[in-house]
Amino acid sequence: MTLLVHDVTLTYPDGEGRLTALDAVGLEVPAGTLTAVIGPSGSGKSSLLAVAATLVTPDRGRVVVAGEDTTRLRPAEKSVLRREKIGIVFQQPNLPASLTAAEQLQVMAHLAGRPAKGARRRALELLDAVGLADQADRRPHQLSGGQRQRVNIARALMNEPAVLLVDEPTSALDHERGAAVLDLLVTLTRERSTATVLVTHDHAHLDRVDRTVTMSDGRLTGGRAGAPAGAVPGTRGGAGGAQRGGGAAARAEGAR
Ligand SMILES: Nc1ncnc2c1ncn2[C@@H]1O[C@H](COP(=O)(O)OP(=O)(O)OP(=O)(O)O)[C@@H](O)[C@H]1O
Ligand SMILES: [Mg+2]
Repeated sequence: MTLLVHDVTLTYPDGEGRLTALDAVGLEVPAGTLTAVIGPSGSGKSSLLAVAATLVTPDRGRVVVAGEDTTRLRPAEKSVLRREKIGIVFQQPNLPASLTAAEQLQVMAHLAGRPAKGARRRALELLDAVGLADQADRRPHQLSGGQRQRVNIARALMNEPAVLLVDEPTSALDHERGAAVLDLLVTLTRERSTATVLVTHDHAHLDRVDRTVTMSDGRLTGGRAGAPAGAVPGTRGGAGGAQRGGGAAARAEGAR
């Protein structure tokens, strides 16, 4: 299992007591599949991503990334693991204004200590994969919101992460561009074999994903299967396909 969140409880200080943001949450995401997380505001979706990203240490439970139990790692080891194994896409692309699209990606290779040689070629290949081959030398202010979000996604993939965590990538986009970004994430997940978790408020296109789980008051409540697993790599998930039984792609452990 490429991403395993096991029995995780996370609390935050809250006045005299503590607020339970995640309550015994479990989630398994195999490589090459995309799990969507939906649920009301404040239900714990971003907290789940933060724990899976090893940015926040849970009170209890384990997060295993590409076979490595992150619970035991020291902070410096976690940041190495994050750079090498985890791609993170936040809601608002935070792209340095002075860098071109290609440079935004090359910086990621540099930060991970990878040789500069080859980084430019990889950056261009990824920009091509997200449909921005002709925008490589443009700076963020010269790109549309949808194009910036694509750079953001390409940047997260630069170091070939095993796990891709995406928080609300389409909320700033109109319906059509939102659908295109979701299609892109499904395709990249298959092609690059990432274990992808997507937090979204947009319920319109969830038939394209492998699995949808719902957060509610810090608990993960089951889920429903989306489209067929898209067994052919590189193809879209296919719309409105047969419902699959539980556990076919990603299994939600919650709601016990
Ligand atoms: N750093 C923090 N300190 C204290 N409480 C926090 C912190 N971050 C989140 N919370 C609380 O934890 C709960 C879950 O928050 P979280 O951000 O995970 O929700 P969410 O489902 O992502 O919501 P939204 O859809 O609005 O982004 C909320 O009650 C929130 O107020
Ligand atoms: Mg959130």
